[in-house]
Order: sequence, then structure tokens, then C-alpha cells
Amino acid sequence: MKILDQTDDGASSTLSYAGLIERIEILRSTLRWSSRLERADIDKLLRQASSLRDEVMQMSHRERFVQAVAEPARADQSRGARRQALLERSFIFEGTFGDNPRLLEALEIAEKAAPTDLPVLVDGESGTGKELMAKVIHANGSRADKPYISVNCGAIPDNLLESELFGHRRGAFTGASADRKGKFESAHTGTIFLDEIGELPLAGQVKLLRVLESHEIQRVGSDEMIAVDTRIVAATNRNLRRLSEEGKFREDLFYRLSVIHVTLPPLRERRDEIPLLVAYFGDEAAGTLKRRPVRLTPRLRDFLLTYAYPGNIRELRNLMYRISCLAGDTADIDHLPVDMRPTPAGSGAQGGAAGSGGGGATVSNLLSLADAKRAASDEAEKAFLERGLHEVGGTVAELARRVDMNRSHLQMLLKKHGLHSKDFRRQGAQPGGRKGDNDEDDAEDLEAG
Ligand SMILES: Nc1ncnc2c1ncn2[C@@H]1O[C@H](COP(=O)(O)OP(=O)(O)OP(=O)(O)O)[C@@H](O)[C@H]1O
Ligand SMILES: [Mg+2]
Repeated sequence: MKILDQTDDGASSTLSYAGLIERIEILRSTLRWSSRLERADIDKLLRQASSLRDEVMQMSHRERFVQAVAEPARADQSRGARRQALLERSFIFEGTFGDNPRLLEALEIAEKAAPTDLPVLVDGESGTGKELMAKVIHANGSRADKPYISVNCGAIPDNLLESELFGHRRGAFTGASADRKGKFESAHTGTIFLDEIGELPLAGQVKLLRVLESHEIQRVGSDEMIAVDTRIVAATNRNLRRLSEEGKFREDLFYRLSVIHVTLPPLRERRDEIPLLVAYFGDEAAGTLKRRPVRLTPRLRDFLLTYAYPGNIRELRNLMYRISCLAGDTADIDHLPVDMRPTPAGSGAQGGAAGSGGGGATVSNLLSLADAKRAASDEAEKAFLERGLHEVGGTVAELARRVDMNRSHLQMLLKKHGLHSKDFRRQGAQPGGRKGDNDEDDAEDLEAG
């Protein structure tokens, strides 16, 4: 379906949902950096734009499902094309960045699963984005405007578990001073996210299985059966199949929960995304901390590109916030936590503060030869772009002409490396650049941000 769009000159044209959402996104990024509005006004307008975007997303979700089924993803498509195809089907990324084929595959599965009510099991190491994926599934489904309730199964004491999930009647046990709804009832018509499902004790597993079979719950201390309509997304960083083989997790529950099974790869297996994530979280931290994005010395950049990230994306995000908070204009190795700083022999980031940190990063924390080559190639690409931008005084259009590269591809590469054309602008003359080019570039910087 197309939406009739009234243009400035009164003519009407058709605009897809994706086009509409893209326009809202451009409006939001422009707003975010507005220098003429008060912060409070910006926040208010941002909230309005976000809710408008959510409404459009809602309107489009049925159409997207039909398209997703009609146009199965082709593994031989390029990553850019696969991500673009998701975008064109108005897929809601909820801030999920990256176009590594394994991440794209997970997103494509999420897209197909979202509009159904089938249970989804998301697994992967700590910090790989399991909770984010649960939100993506909720946001892309027909329940997006209904409750999304998250329960951490590992954090509830055994004796409170049943009451927490299913509620209780007044007087059901000591301390139950009033009737109380459980999480399943709160999630009625929406989605319940059962986090750390692998930690659920066997008694809790039996009760959960019963709910999955009957779609009914019973509050503790009550005989009444209450029908609940909740979509279940569960997550774990453990291997549930192995746990079930060891008798620690009910096999029947495992199969019930994992009708759709999504595994998120650790960051060290999608290293190609690190430069993009460094740039993204650097910008995000700058926004939160109300400062300019921090610059990285080459040796810190080397370190960030080659580190093994046992805590995955969360660790990378926390690092960028730490660095942005502690550094002045430029961050270096000594802004890393002491126990993480590379020892002189440990990486390409030698000298300086390195070595002061005692048991710093070791070779086992670092990447394979192939990854090291990729990181070096990334560095060369970045150096090339920096030199080019410097030569053309920060005029992206001119650089694109000189290196014979498509301008939007060039913009994408600049974004990947966290380069801002305006940082290379010179006062006065713009060699080779047409007048006005810089203004266009500014607009693109905003869109890219
Ligand atoms: N692909 C991604 N793009 C951008 N941000 C991401 C991505 N994946 C994860 N994040 C961010 O990383 C952080 C950790 O993600 P999340 O909490 O979803 O991980 P998790 O797998 O649930 O971790 P844990 O197992 O420790 O609970 C969050 O801030 C999340 O927004
Ligand atoms: Mg989590």
C-alpha cells in the first residue's frame, strides 16, 4: 500500500511507509542537533516524532509480513541490500546496528516470527543483544502497542516465583496482604519476555509448561482459572539443549519455547561491526554526556578494533561511555580500565600507558591473523579517507568526484569510521569544491548521525 503524499508545491505523489518513516527519522536527527531550540522543546518534539513513527510502524506491520513471506531473503544478496530490504519493509530495528550476515539472518528470522504468536527462544553470550532482540520481535509484531513485560527468571527467589509469574490471592501466604496480579496477567494481549530462562528451577518449569499448554493461569491460593493471551519470548546465555540432556531443563519445555530459535553471535565473530559500533556508541555517549564526540588516538583505536570483548556489545558500549566521560578532546590507552590496558607485547598499541596496568590484555584476548588483517585494512581505509577529506577541505561531494566513488557510499564509509566532514573544513577557500557543497554535506552529516 502507498500513502498519498502532498508535496510543497501542492502536487501529490505516492510515498511508501518506508519513505514516510525515513522522513520522520531525518526530522528526528535534524531536531536532535538543533542549535536554535531549547533542550526541553527538542525533547518534546522528539517524543512527538517518535510516537508518530510508532504509529506508522503499526499501520505498516501487516503489509510488511505479507512482503516478507512473498520475498524470502536471499543469502547471496549483499549485506547492504539485505539491510536495505528490511528497511524498505519498514522493519523496526529498535537501535540494532550492524549488517554482519549472522546478525542479518537473526533479524530476518525475527521479522518473519514477529507477526505470529509463536514462542521465540533467543540465545547467545552475555551482552550480545538478546533483550534488544526480544524488543525487536515485540515492536515488529501485531502486539507492539500492547504491554511488553520483562521477567528475570534468575533473579526471583524460588519461593516467590509462582506468585511473581501468576499472582496471588490475599492471604495465600504470610505477607500476601492483598490480591496481586502476576507478570503473565500484566502481559495479557502483549508479550512476556522470560529472561535467563535457563535459571528457572524445575518446579517453575512445570508450571510454565502448563501455562504454555492451556493458556490459563491460576493465582497462588485461588481455584479460579484465568485465561491469558501472551506471546512468549525467552532468552538465555546457556545451552538449553545441553541442559535438557543433563536433566537440568525439561526437554518438553525446551521444545515448546524454541519453536523459533535465534542465536546471536558473539562480537568477536562479527568484528566487522566494531568500527561502526565504536562510532555509534561514541556519538551516543557524546549526546548523553552533552559533549563533542571524543577522538581516539590510533593506538586506542587499534586496541578497540582488536580486543576480544568477552562482555560483547555491552562491554564495548560501556567502554565508549567510560572513555567519553574520562577523556578530554582525545582519548588514549590510559583511559581504559587498568586491568584492560594492553601490555607492551600484547598488541599493536605499544608504549605509553601500556604496561602500567599489570595483568593487561594478552594475546589470548586478541584476534586471529585474519581479523588482524581486516583491522589493518580498516585502518588503511580510514587513513585514506582522512587524507582525502583533508585535501578537499572537508567537501564530501568533491572527494567523491576525485576518487570516483558514489557519494552515499562515501558517506557510509565516513560514518563507519566516525569521520565528520566538518572537522576537516578550512576557513575561506574550498579547493575544487563548488559553492554550497558544504551546506549539502552538513545536511548529510545530520542524516547520517
Ligand atoms: N546490534 C546492536 N546494536 C546496537 N546496540 C546493541 C546491539 N546489540 C546489543 N546492543 C546494546 O548492548 C547492550 C546489551 O544488550 P542486551 O542487554 O540486549 O544483551 P543481552 O544479550 O540481553 O545481555 P545479558 O545476557 O547480559 O542479559 C544494550 O545496551 C543494547 O542496547
Ligand atoms: Mg539480557
